[in-house]
Amino acid sequence: MQTITLNNGVEMPQLGFGVYQIPLEETAEAVYQAIKAGYRLIDTASIYGNEKKTGEGIKRAIDEGLVTRDELFVTSKLFILQAPEEKAAETINLSLEVMGLDYLDLYLIHQPYGDIYGAWRAMVAAQKSGKLRAIGISNFKSAKMIEFVGLNEVKPQINQIEVNPWNQRIEDQEWHEKYDVQMEAWAPFAEGRHELFTNPVLAEIGKQYHKTVGQVVLRWLMQRGIVALAKSVRPERMAENIAIFDFELSKADLEKIAALDMKESAFFDHDAPQQVEWFMDRMLDTEK
Ligand SMILES: NC(=O)c1ccc[n+]([C@@H]2O[C@H](COP(=O)([O-])OP(=O)(O)OC[C@H]3O[C@@H](n4cnc5c(N)ncnc54)[C@H](OP(=O)(O)O)[C@@H]3O)[C@@H](O)[C@H]2O)c1
Repeated sequence: MQTITLNNGVEMPQLGFGVYQIPLEETAEAVYQAIKAGYRLIDTASIYGNEKKTGEGIKRAIDEGLVTRDELFVTSKLFILQAPEEKAAETINLSLEVMGLDYLDLYLIHQPYGDIYGAWRAMVAAQKSGKLRAIGISNFKSAKMIEFVGLNEVKPQINQIEVNPWNQRIEDQEWHEKYDVQMEAWAPFAEGRHELFTNPVLAEIGKQYHKTVGQVVLRWLMQRGIVALAKSVRPERMAENIAIFDFELSKADLEKIAALDMKESAFFDHDAPQQVEWFMDRMLDTEK
């Protein structure tokens, strides 16, 4: 698996497996199958409600000798309700307990709301004590990321944001490179929106290499130096999505993909009042 080195020297796989929206009863099996298929980066979050099942899938893979813990790179995230400093420290411990792990490889502030500075202090302390190998943020727009870097002694290693062919974040990538914060792509397939999987431009590019649209998209992210998280509950798609290290997109292919950029979210604007209302409602339901 190709890796990326973060600004604190920690190495992470460039392609990972996400468990958002996987039904609870399928999560442990999906995580186990993903590890079996070769994924080493696993991404969950307390708000997904499946940390425990994710931990069970990991434990089974380790118990069966498929991998050792240090070969895996496990991520979870802190949701808004849990942000105050003491609450954040408790939540980190709870995530570890629920997942049955001694440490997490990456822990993120999930949304740019609440007491993000208090949460960050708790995360820096947990990193110093060895509970978290890398720490970062998620869904921070570039301006907010720059403010956050400027006001903290320890800068985030990662910003996990939406990146896909419809929302390519080209300028954002320049800002992240300037501040040495690694970009990590969520929803690389835009969850199939705007008919991504049948897009003729992407399909035509793939044909040249006998690759699918999904593989073209993930390869494009690899060549841009972005960490990508793909989700599928189907083992054949897990295998398909990881088979992207044996071909290279040409400059002409990259230019065709660049022309697809709509420069806006395929989902929602994180700053829209309705969206923030939605976060606040979800916050009340936060459960492990
Ligand atoms: N930080 C955040 O706020 C945030 C937000 C969203 C997501 N994430 C993370 O990013 C991960 C990925 O994002 P996502 O799950 O939202 O979306 P995604 O990976 O863009 O899309 C997943 C969808 O694509 C389908 N799919 C996967 N591979 C395919 C293939 N090769 N061909 C056809 N269809 C395919 C899956 O269906 P099947 O499962 O049926 O195959 C699923 O419906 C999440 O799981 C989560 O870990 C983070």
